[in-house]
Amino acid sequence: MACLAYIEFIFECGVQLPGKNLAKLEIKDVSKYFEVVGRPSNSTFKSSRSSRSSHLTYPSRSSNPLPASSFSSSLEDESPDGLMAAVENVRLSIEEGQFVCFVGPSGCGKSTLLNIIAGLDKPTIGEVILNGRRVTEPGPDRIMVFQDNALFPWLKVIDNVQFGLKVAGVEKKKRHEISMHYLDMMQLTKFAEAYTYQLSGGMKQRVSLARALVMDPEILLMDEPFAALDSQTRDLLLVELQLIWAKTRKTILFVTHNISESVCLGDRVVVFTNRPGRVKKEVLIDYRRPRLTEDNNLYNYQRQVLDELKTEIKTSRKIEEM
Ligand SMILES: Nc1ncnc2c1ncn2[C@@H]1O[C@H](COP(=O)(O)OP(=O)(O)OP(=O)(O)O)[C@@H](O)[C@H]1O
Ligand SMILES: [Mg+2]
Repeated sequence: MACLAYIEFIFECGVQLPGKNLAKLEIKDVSKYFEVVGRPSNSTFKSSRSSRSSHLTYPSRSSNPLPASSFSSSLEDESPDGLMAAVENVRLSIEEGQFVCFVGPSGCGKSTLLNIIAGLDKPTIGEVILNGRRVTEPGPDRIMVFQDNALFPWLKVIDNVQFGLKVAGVEKKKRHEISMHYLDMMQLTKFAEAYTYQLSGGMKQRVSLARALVMDPEILLMDEPFAALDSQTRDLLLVELQLIWAKTRKTILFVTHNISESVCLGDRVVVFTNRPGRVKKEVLIDYRRPRLTEDNNLYNYQRQVLDELKTEIKTSRKIEEM
């Protein structure tokens, strides 16, 4: 209990509320179609593709050459010209400083959507607007944290953390100072000179988080960052992430398959349908922070998310069995 009181104290101290009602990120009717994997493209596909702009981006839905009705909902779903819808018509408005979790069946396009927001991929239709500007490429304002942490094993912890700052041309002393600040936040100061193989999984994930935070992004995009961790380490990181969020007030988009994780972290939990992923329901988690996964008061929220998700997962299984 003393520990929780301490966490609550730090949490309250860290809370800042910049521009709370400002809509920072807008996902406007985003759809993404992929060429069906393992199938050679046919001539129809080639001709329709060549008539598109080079990055397959469309200004509006009215110019969509592949209406939603041209897809079935089976795993064989594909348009007549050989494309498969991964996500379809996703519209979301995310406010500055919000913590939004994405949940949905495997393959419903959560990572695809994150990649589009990161600028690593382009929407086929629709657009992502950040601070009034259309996202067309990756930028330091959006940083991804992946499940497998993607650290460089040949670099020391400190060099992993300051890598992005070095690339950005930040002067040596300054980048060391910033990196140590975030390592300190992650309680990893003592491990600055260690190599990543000398760290536990949870510590590596914290290094990965520090590496993202040093870039001071406006948005953190987290794709199942804790999925590979044991439950105790994950529970610790869930609290730490809430503390970091309270201190830095970043906008965070967090993909997870873990329902208790989603309601523990999110201001909003967005539930996606089975592929093609559409927003099925949003559950607002209006409950005090910091939250612990074992808090019984979160159970009702978990139930709401589970009820929405259950039918989608059932559909997904049925399709796979077909
Ligand atoms: N580059 C690609 N080329 C072709 N198809 C792709 C590509 N990337 C993703 N897909 C397909 O798009 C669909 C959505 O994939 P995505 O990885 O976004 O799903 P997800 O919701 O993140 O799944 P999971 O929960 O398993 O990580 C899948 O059917 C996948 O095979
Ligand atoms: Mg994924």
